[in-house]
Amino acid sequence: MQNEQVEEGRRDFIYLATGAVAAAGVASVTWPLVAQMGKAADTRAAGSIEIDLAGIAEGSQLKMLWRGKPVFVRHRTPEEIAEAENADVSRYPDPQTDTERLVPTPSGEVNPKYLVMIGVCTHFGCVPVGEQGDYGGWYCPCHGSHYDTSGRIRKGPAPTNLAIPPYEYISDTVIRVG
Ligand code: FES
Repeated sequence: MQNEQVEEGRRDFIYLATGAVAAAGVASVTWPLVAQMGKAADTRAAGSIEIDLAGIAEGSQLKMLWRGKPVFVRHRTPEEIAEAENADVSRYPDPQTDTERLVPTPSGEVNPKYLVMIGVCTHFGCVPVGEQGDYGGWYCPCHGSHYDTSGRIRKGPAPTNLAIPPYEYISDTVIRVG
């Protein structure tokens, strides 16, 4: 595995940095700050990174930097998957089924356990916090956007769902992002 792995934790350094900037009321400069923090990783990073999903415990999230952007890989619980799959997305601001947000494994089926997303709020670019918000997914503290367990925007100013990066499964348990 290459690139820079951001240490996992409920209050990791990216979130703390983001929150500090937001508290100062300068949310628009948040992303450059995060990008700067990831600069060392950028210079080492190739165009893609490989991630071994088997090392991510159920109910936890891995955060990686890819091309200077945080990538979230969450191993969802059965409850989170059920919520994501059973949602009536027709009224959502950015309607997408959970399956549409996943990539098939080598068998051709999707594996709903693993959700891979760009961890950048689609409003003004802050880094959302996991297991927070009204829908048990991610919450952006900068201006209050709530994402569900599929990373879909449900409430708040963000216009679209958290983005899915280009990635593929190179085995049943390893993905390549980029
Ligand atoms: S940056 Fe405004 S809600 Fe996330």
